[in-house]
Amino acid sequence: MNTPNEFALQMRHVSKRFGGVQALDDVSLEVKVGEVHCLAGENGCGKSTLIKIVTGVHPPEHGAEISVFGHPVAAYSPTLARASGIAVIWQDLALFPHMSVAENIGFDEMVGAKPHLANLKSIRKRAQAVMTRLGVSLDLDARLNTLPIAERQVVAIARALISDARLIFMDEPTASLTQSETDALLDIVRTLSANGVAIVFVSHRLAEVLDIAERVTVVRDGRMVGVYPTKDMTQSRLGELMTGSSLESKVSARDMSSAEAVLDVVGLTRRDEFEDISFTVGRGEVVGVIGLIGSGRTELAHALIGMSQPEAGTIRLNNASISPRSIRDAIKVGIAYVSEDRLSLGLVQQQSIADNAVVSVLSRLLGYLGLISASKKSNLVDDWIERLAVKIGTSKDAVSTLSGGNQQRVVLAKWLATEPKLLILDSPTVGVDVGARAGIFKIVRQLAEQGIAILLISDEVTEAYFNSDRILHMADGRIQSEYNPIQTTVAALEEQIYA
Ligand SMILES: Nc1ncnc2c1ncn2[C@@H]1O[C@H](COP(=O)(O)OP(=O)(O)OP(=O)(O)O)[C@@H](O)[C@H]1O
Ligand SMILES: [Mg+2]
Repeated sequence: MNTPNEFALQMRHVSKRFGGVQALDDVSLEVKVGEVHCLAGENGCGKSTLIKIVTGVHPPEHGAEISVFGHPVAAYSPTLARASGIAVIWQDLALFPHMSVAENIGFDEMVGAKPHLANLKSIRKRAQAVMTRLGVSLDLDARLNTLPIAERQVVAIARALISDARLIFMDEPTASLTQSETDALLDIVRTLSANGVAIVFVSHRLAEVLDIAERVTVVRDGRMVGVYPTKDMTQSRLGELMTGSSLESKVSARDMSSAEAVLDVVGLTRRDEFEDISFTVGRGEVVGVIGLIGSGRTELAHALIGMSQPEAGTIRLNNASISPRSIRDAIKVGIAYVSEDRLSLGLVQQQSIADNAVVSVLSRLLGYLGLISASKKSNLVDDWIERLAVKIGTSKDAVSTLSGGNQQRVVLAKWLATEPKLLILDSPTVGVDVGARAGIFKIVRQLAEQGIAILLISDEVTEAYFNSDRILHMADGRIQSEYNPIQTTVAALEEQIYA
């Protein structure tokens, strides 16, 4: 017999429709007290929607049964959810950039149900206690926008704990984190779970899902696939359950040594960032760059697209020397840049998908896109949206209605519409599900075959391994060595990096 409190959460028969989109269709989710439970499924399958229902953001359709810590819930609201011990760490964290760490942690207390506790001094004290419990230390007076993403995440977790949350939803918490930051976060999750806090964890990184969760609920296209213990699960099996088809990775490296150089970098140096960097990317070649955070990989990309200026060295594109002083300069000469941070990439959330993809921003930057007729513009967008398999109602819908991973695809569409000679991808599949990753890399491969030179910077060794023709390993601001995927293994590369 189940004791009433064995479950932190029981949801049954949950459905949700948005206009013509059936986001959820009779889904269940059960989470035990102190359990780490993953919610897995492709982009747009309804994970965030399910979380929004438990937390009272959206009401479910009639017929849903929800109980929290053994208590049935009739009508849900964010206040009620918080009062019953539920907290969410949203995909975009939902913190206040201009407020201090302490104010962010105490925000719910300051505006919430117990205004008499709105005493910053007591909040500071409790915030400190929460951080001790998490085994982290942050400056309570630091402004949030001065902190790296990983620390902001800790702030969001601390905010949940200060209000005594016993069931915490984390919607893709590791999407913008590096491997070591992810490891630190997973340690925090384990600590929470050992303290009896139940965690529902959403991630597209299957290795991480299998590592952290005891059980995983798989949803496909808004419908339940099943609930599985992770003990005997493999990544490829989980991928199959999510997509409904089998995914197999093969090394795709080709010998591109005779391709003419599109990008030719010699001796590029910027103090404290990278030093004496020399490499080429040939026409149609995909060159992977792997390395830890701080290795200089992203800084190198920034210099190539004019976001920063190197102090020494040369950059040549199709044999002409360039020194872009701004992203605009870089775009003009034919460089495109897709980075991991879609939120800062200027997707205008309230604008339509079409406008975002053709990009008011870029057309202004580019001039020539501005000359394209409206009908040609919408063809261009429709074409990319179709090729990238963005899951949308119509391209006139606002970007904010898209799931996170689909927003990332719109970012890609927008850059591809500029028809670049060199495409720099910096962790392009963060937050994108396994099936779609395969789709994106198929497109990357096609782009390469059309002659675009591609520099693929990646946090995930497997991603670089399977999709590059050559791999450069960066550490301490320098290129340490070059690998041919055909002659090495993922394990050997990982050993190099984490050595
Ligand atoms: N407010 C809304 N209005 C209209 N459609 C919506 C709204 N919110 C979500 N949807 C649609 O519901 C479906 C499920 O979206 P949801 O955000 O739950 O996906 P997800 O599983 O979290 O995906 P991802 O992994 O990409 O974050 C998508 O088709 C999405 O476009
Ligand atoms: Mg989501």
